[in-house]
Amino acid sequence: MASAGSQAGTPDRGPSPAPRPAPEEMERLLKAAHQVALHAWAPYSRFRVGAALLDQEGRLFSGCNVEVASYRLTTCAEQAAVAAAVAAGARRIRALAVVSPDSPECLPCGGCRQTLAEFADPDLPVILERADGTPLLLRLEELLPRTFRLAPPGLRDARSDPEATRPGRGGGSR
Ligand code: THU
Repeated sequence: MASAGSQAGTPDRGPSPAPRPAPEEMERLLKAAHQVALHAWAPYSRFRVGAALLDQEGRLFSGCNVEVASYRLTTCAEQAAVAAAVAAGARRIRALAVVSPDSPECLPCGGCRQTLAEFADPDLPVILERADGTPLLLRLEELLPRTFRLAPPGLRDARSDPEATRPGRGGGSR
């Protein structure tokens, strides 16, 4: 069940397009991501990032990167947004936007892709912004094929178990 690649999709048929969120939804997420990016603390890289997501109930959460002089302690924008969502009881992510006012088409780093996979289906719409300001829609699975997963006994899968969406129902430990 937890084997690597279990969510890898159907390579023979090629990747299916990302489920397209409503244009207003994409706009809302991009706007929120831009807003929160202005709060980024990025004095070392000068690379500000904002992320905004919708949970299963349509609640919006956002986060920005927070750099620390000891560089490895830096938090990415996506991590911050996911942490805010989970702290509010969210367990599933329906759509996510990531932007940087300092660089177009800002892609989530590898670590953030794995964090997103914890709470999202492989076809999670990941919305980026092209240099011309138009949205670029990708699927999480395109960014992170053959996702590593663990399934300890008793763990409720945040991606497929409705009970897991309820706070305090995360199940097992890792
Ligand atoms: N960064 C993010 O916030 N998200 C990513 O997915 C990529 C990288 C931040 C971390 C650091 O503050 C800066 O961008 C440069 O790496």
